[in-house]
Amino acid sequence: MSDQVARAIALSAAATNSKGQHLSPTELLNSFDGKIDRDALKELAGQSILEPRQFDRRTVVAIAQLSALLESRNVEMDKPLDGKIAITAFFEASTRTRLSFESAVLRLDGKVLSVPDGQVTGIAKGESLADIGEMFNTYGDVVIMRHPDTNCIDEIRKNLQRPLINAGNGSGHHPTQALIDWYALLKWRPELCSPNCPEEKRVHLGIIGTPGSMRAVKSFVRLALLFTGAVKKITVISELADPVGLDLNEPLEESPIPTEIVNDVREVLPHLDVIYVNSIAFLGDSYRNLDTRYKLDQDSELKSDAVILHPLARNEELSESLDCTDHNLYFAQAAGAVFVRQALLVSVLDRLDQISGISTP
Ligand code: CP
Repeated sequence: MSDQVARAIALSAAATNSKGQHLSPTELLNSFDGKIDRDALKELAGQSILEPRQFDRRTVVAIAQLSALLESRNVEMDKPLDGKIAITAFFEASTRTRLSFESAVLRLDGKVLSVPDGQVTGIAKGESLADIGEMFNTYGDVVIMRHPDTNCIDEIRKNLQRPLINAGNGSGHHPTQALIDWYALLKWRPELCSPNCPEEKRVHLGIIGTPGSMRAVKSFVRLALLFTGAVKKITVISELADPVGLDLNEPLEESPIPTEIVNDVREVLPHLDVIYVNSIAFLGDSYRNLDTRYKLDQDSELKSDAVILHPLARNEELSESLDCTDHNLYFAQAAGAVFVRQALLVSVLDRLDQISGISTP
């Protein structure tokens, strides 16, 4: 490869968000003396990534460490996914998840078989997901699937023997999005990694949305419960009386992190350090916008150093007037997706050893 091509690849991999905060991976890496918890990542080899509850704090931090390394160094020359084929099977619309997974694979020299719409498969002729899973066993080494049916995971796994990465299942979970969200937060404030985060660095999280029916929000909160030393309170702001839902009720009750539910955003907004906002819910077999009366814009009463996360796509709940402010962590959050997905794929496909110069504790 010529120097010119290598430089073009390095520059393209370093491309980041155009507006809002720019997060450096170096500070996060330096907080661990540049070391990666390889043992925690090795546990992921051959595993499916289905729900956030399969992670502990150590693994979330290890994935963030490797993501930071991949973001800060040009590892393309190591070709860590050479010879591997990823199948991205998307039976539901996506901008970020499918394309960032595919970019992650291609940048590390793997290959992609892409199903951008389930209607181009035998589903259109009545084929079952279980039979499609059987076919995938011979076509690829890992399957990344999004599907509107919450039960799709069990269905495809009736026959699928390859690792499956859940890229969003109905109103179920979106575990890789939650890892991306936490990667952004840990880069923004590396002290949050510590079980003994200094008091002045601990955060009050506000959730504007309905975790019970919004998979990305639900998965984010689930990971937040791992950071007991860093999250001092979680406030859910929702139009609904019970926005939390069955999956989260018990974990929230059992967590030492205090939780409250309010419906007036004005009373709590000035106290929040991190605001996670989303309005799109997947209910039954279609999208709906919930919590539409809550809107954030440049006139919202935010703490001066508060940051906003949003899994995107957005609607009117998040005004473009915030894009050029330091409250905007959502573009940096989205920009980190390729590196988190690379870290996951390298770990699941057991190719950590092909990345040169990883130093371990
Ligand atoms: N965050 C997210 O899941 O975005 P897409 O729906 O565009 O994949």
